Amino acid sequence: MLAELDTTQEQALAALAAAGDDAAVEAWRIDWLGSKGQLKQLMARMKDVEPSERPAFGERMNALKQALEDAFKAHKDVGAKGPSGPPMDVTEPGLPAGLGRRHIVSQTVAEIIEVFARMGFEPTTGPEVEDEWHNFTALNVPESHPAREAIDNYYLEGGGILRSQTSTVQIRVLEKTPPPVRIVAAGRVYRPDTHDATHYSMFHQVEGLYVDRGVTMVDLKSTLLGFAHAFFGEEVEVRMRPSFFPFTEPSAEVDMKMRIKGKWQWVELGGCGMVDPNVLEALNIDAEEWTGFAFGLGVERIAMRKHGIADIRWLFENDVRFLRQF
Ligand code: FA5
Repeated sequence: MLAELDTTQEQALAALAAAGDDAAVEAWRIDWLGSKGQLKQLMARMKDVEPSERPAFGERMNALKQALEDAFKAHKDVGAKGPSGPPMDVTEPGLPAGLGRRHIVSQTVAEIIEVFARMGFEPTTGPEVEDEWHNFTALNVPESHPAREAIDNYYLEGGGILRSQTSTVQIRVLEKTPPPVRIVAAGRVYRPDTHDATHYSMFHQVEGLYVDRGVTMVDLKSTLLGFAHAFFGEEVEVRMRPSFFPFTEPSAEVDMKMRIKGKWQWVELGGCGMVDPNVLEALNIDAEEWTGFAFGLGVERIAMRKHGIADIRWLFENDVRFLRQF
């Protein structure tokens, strides 16, 4: 008998839940809680229950009645007010939608590309997941070169590598397009560098490549100077410091002299050089006829210098209080 009451309760609550409108809820009330309703009829069966079991039956009947009354009240409240919570004033003005903006790194990429585009460099892109041919071999980096070591690169399971420099795009372009070419390409690169104020394991580079007849280092220097003036201002100086990259000969570091906290300082922003004849010949481009220059600049370092950002990590913490300033 007690077990039967459990089933009865389940059935009654299910019927209430299924009542779709006010009329159905009222019909349910009459059926279950009404003066001739099912609860009353169940109560009448008390006399059939063994005298010793009557207290337990009475207690269970009271609990059943309470459960149905509570459920009925809750159902009615929801119907009258809508979901619980404070009443809604539909005439109140809405919250203004926050206006988003581009991340400062994306803004910087766009500005840099625009400057080079004005100088005749055609914007292009290349894949972030690369193969060893484009990331190393075609760039004149031999098999045994330490730059290829696993500890310095993100090799992917199943082959491939996250590109460690945008110089890969030089190869992709020269493979498809015979000279003359003049392109600029920006994008993410990846290196397992330890994070500190000036290093991150993912950052952006802007690559430039110009291959034509009679291109010289004068063209390279004047292009970098033109960029520095357009981007940072006329007073900025450019210095090329001898260096080494396997894919350029001669090679140089690009430094720019700029005012930092009132003091003039040389700051390294990238690498550059004349395209190594080996690179051109491996792509079946006659290095006697064609010469070229290439450069690769660090976008975060440029953004940091331009906006006085002291720590590269701030760029990637996604703290909107910081990002909102730009
Ligand atoms: C290169 O990546 C060469 N591909 C540049 C190049 C292109 C040379 C074309 C010649 C011709 P390098 O490893 O120095 O060079 O990196 C270039 C710039 O990327 C650096 O000057 C710096 O501005 C930036 N950079 C390098 N490592 C990091 C890092 N971990 N975090 C942020 N920026 C970095």
